[in-house]
Amino acid sequence: MARILITSALPYINGIKHLGNLVGSQLPADLYARFQRGRGNEVLFLCATDEHGTPAELAAAKAGKPVADYCAELHDIQAGIARQFGLSFDHFGRSSSPQNRDLTQHLAAKLAENGLIEEISERQVYSNADGRFLPDRYIEGTCPNCGYDKARGDQCENCTKQLDPTDLIDPRSAISGSTDLEVRETKHLYLRQSLLKDDLDQWIDSKKDWPILTTSIAKKWLHDGDGLQDRGITRDLDWGIPVKKGDEDWPGMEGKVFYVWFDAPIEYIACAKEWADAHGKPDSAWERWWRTDKGADDVKYVQFMGKDNVPFHTLSFPATILGSKEPWKMVDHLKSFNYLNYDGGQFSTSQGRGVFQDQALEILSADYWRWWLLSHVPESSDSEFTWENFQQSVNKDLADVLGNFVSRITKFCRAKFGEAVPDGGEFGPTEQAVIDDLTTRIRAYEGHMDAMEVRKSAQELRAIWVIGNEYLQSAAPWSTFKTDPEQAAAQVRLALNLIRIYAVLSAPFIPDASARMLEAMQTDDDSWPDDVAAAVTALAPGHAFTVPDVLFAKITDEQREDWQTRFSGTRD
Ligand code: 2FM
Ligand code: ZN
Repeated sequence: MARILITSALPYINGIKHLGNLVGSQLPADLYARFQRGRGNEVLFLCATDEHGTPAELAAAKAGKPVADYCAELHDIQAGIARQFGLSFDHFGRSSSPQNRDLTQHLAAKLAENGLIEEISERQVYSNADGRFLPDRYIEGTCPNCGYDKARGDQCENCTKQLDPTDLIDPRSAISGSTDLEVRETKHLYLRQSLLKDDLDQWIDSKKDWPILTTSIAKKWLHDGDGLQDRGITRDLDWGIPVKKGDEDWPGMEGKVFYVWFDAPIEYIACAKEWADAHGKPDSAWERWWRTDKGADDVKYVQFMGKDNVPFHTLSFPATILGSKEPWKMVDHLKSFNYLNYDGGQFSTSQGRGVFQDQALEILSADYWRWWLLSHVPESSDSEFTWENFQQSVNKDLADVLGNFVSRITKFCRAKFGEAVPDGGEFGPTEQAVIDDLTTRIRAYEGHMDAMEVRKSAQELRAIWVIGNEYLQSAAPWSTFKTDPEQAAAQVRLALNLIRIYAVLSAPFIPDASARMLEAMQTDDDSWPDDVAAAVTALAPGHAFTVPDVLFAKITDEQREDWQTRFSGTRD
């Protein structure tokens, strides 16, 4: 039995996420976790909300709530939605947990001890009215280049010129609109990543099986321009993990917090401790996943994320881990995704464009979305959600191919033989051909799933469903029954057993429907079809079953048009 540690990128706390966020990390991570569990491997699947930083503070301010309350509330909302989508995290933690605070402060102390932290004085814009330093993007003013009056301190979005906040004419706070700004001196900690460049380079070179999308992004940041830059890991904010050296104060850093991108990936580790603590387990329970000196040497660690997160996971976080000189487990495989677009444009949280996760669940249950999103995952390039495509894929794949197969054979059996697996007859060459065909395809499916080739896996699974339909079509037990009821019994027996096999194979994609299929077949035998010839006899003659309710309803043209209109605008 292998041990597999799986983490999905941590969703920001600042609001309910759209479907693009789901498909780019959490959903494929869940697919992989469910598959590996189904294969009998030991899995620890972790995710958490990413709760610090200016976006969290601003979202809380907009909601008129103290930031800690806002985060607690949004965490519960996100956890509830994740549950409804069937995301099977072993723990859904919080980057604001005490476990993460302690570990972040500990790692910062180690980095300092190893000479990898430098204190640097900077000049930054301070807003007297807001009582805080303003990050560049929260300073607005007139662009000196084109005169656009809403240019941001980092860039003018009108003429794209890169700016410094001090370049802006008539600068003001984007938070309060106040113009009472001044430049103040402030000290920050920098992680001296440049000193770790060779170690990182070697480490990335050792990852021969990483996708090109991943390594090319990492290499670009390592080698382009001036190479890997040292990175500020502290901020002048109220909300975040206080800057401390382990348990001790850090002179000169009073009132400052760690930068959100410093503490967020550390939560991958801290989340495992949250999980152990929540279940009353000792530290050894989580350390065997994360400490190579405590058993994590034989763990395979896989991360899932969108492409924009790759630099942080291939360079910054590994720099933290390597720089600590402690025996932490490092990622073995990093699966990254492109973007999912929405009906000719981009999904956008800030503009409220697209379908948000709570809205999606209001119109259809999780399996419909899981199937479409996973079978169209933006793997080798960006992909696009359109309502037409969604309707077509649901109606064809889920309703016509899988749903119809299950309904047809269970209803036919009930009508002719009753609600139990019929006895009599024998499997002949046609059935053997089905077994052979299934064996080939199931082995291919396992290969694609192991390799995290999500689209290929979905295609293979669909082809496995099609085998059942084609068999029914050609064997035609309804005709056979008229001349040779014994033979028809054998055909029906095979097909009923296929339902159990399909439930097991499909569970990573469509867990609810799979559970309903097993329930209808009145079995809790969810063993993987390693030996297909044996698996097609798992439900023996006489085994009772029931006809399930419709597994997947078709999407009508009316519904499609209705949703198309409803989701064409923006959400506030
Ligand atoms: O891009 C994002 O949504 C980030 N919140 C991902 C963080 S992943 C991890 F490093 F915490
Ligand atoms: Zn401009």
